[in-house]
Amino acid sequence: MVIQATGLTKDYVINLKGKGLKGMAKSLFKSEKKTVHAVQDVNLQMDEGELVGYIGPNGAGKSTTIKMLSGILAPTAGSVRVCGLDPQKRRIQNAMNIGAVFGQKTQLWWDLPVRETFELLRRMYNIPADRYKKNVDEFMDFLDMGPFADQAVRQLSLGQRMRAEIAASLLHDPKVLFLDEPTIGLDVNVKVAVREFVKKINKERGVTILLTTHDLQDIEELAKRIVVINHGQVGFDGSQAELARKYADGKHSVSFTLQQEVSDILLPEGLAAHCTIQREGRNVKVMHDSSVSSSDLIVALVQRYRLTDIDIEGPQIEDVVMEVYRE
Ligand SMILES: Nc1ncnc2c1ncn2[C@@H]1O[C@H](COP(=O)(O)OP(=O)(O)OP(=O)(O)O)[C@@H](O)[C@H]1O
Ligand SMILES: [Mg+2]
Repeated sequence: MVIQATGLTKDYVINLKGKGLKGMAKSLFKSEKKTVHAVQDVNLQMDEGELVGYIGPNGAGKSTTIKMLSGILAPTAGSVRVCGLDPQKRRIQNAMNIGAVFGQKTQLWWDLPVRETFELLRRMYNIPADRYKKNVDEFMDFLDMGPFADQAVRQLSLGQRMRAEIAASLLHDPKVLFLDEPTIGLDVNVKVAVREFVKKINKERGVTILLTTHDLQDIEELAKRIVVINHGQVGFDGSQAELARKYADGKHSVSFTLQQEVSDILLPEGLAAHCTIQREGRNVKVMHDSSVSSSDLIVALVQRYRLTDIDIEGPQIEDVVMEVYRE
């Protein structure tokens, strides 16, 4: 087991500042405090080489979990082991085992050029010369960093900086990689490059990866296993396929345009019970549960009507997440 979190809990205690003069006077004498239960009793186990998508709405507790796993924050309760170590108590050894990227915050030195940043990391982590060269060459090439490698970090575009951040996090060959929103704000091309890189690192090097993202495509393409968190509590932990099966019912649909106006859309009895029809003039959307296949539905429709612009849609992960918490 590479990652083992048991009963992981984090409460933040916030000092509430009073509003206006009255509040100020009040806060001089007595500070008012509020507790935020950011992460509550989370259990998470990850095997070597797994890539888990950690998803949930804003404020769900994802970043707080990652900060505890990477040793940045101490848990209020519960225990964490990463590669067998307590990340808080064994900070230095833990740093050798992990890499971390926080999309919202740079980990690089603002004034140093990318190449020098890498060189500094080489010395900090004591990376053997051959490994260092191999990694830098491979990452520079795969992430196309040549054009900006001699620019200071502060001069980089977001997409360039994010590629440098991810490369930097992997120079010392960590066994575990924490990626907290690595694709936030990136354009489609850079997103694709980052996804391909993450996939490659996971596959070729067997790096264990925990990924948070609000991008559905990241999840669909990268994570076989998904953990859903909301209000600090895990609501689902299983395969992407299982998540879709359990929570995506009724979220499949077939949309099309009728070539001629018809008064009613009629479906065979066996199908009708599993379908809901939405109509706006000639534009029709038929939503169906997973007991009906989209292709059977289309066959039934084309036997009765003349259709164009047929579009099949599967469930969207965002809807699925909402469904997990409706229960
Ligand atoms: N340093 C802090 N002090 C006080 N409260 C905090 C702190 N950091 C986070 N919180 C609170 O803890 C909760 C969880 O925040 P967290 O950043 O872990 O969410 P998240 O799932 O990463 O959200 P997002 O998708 O917006 O990044 C939120 O209610 C947030 O306001
Ligand atoms: Mg976050």
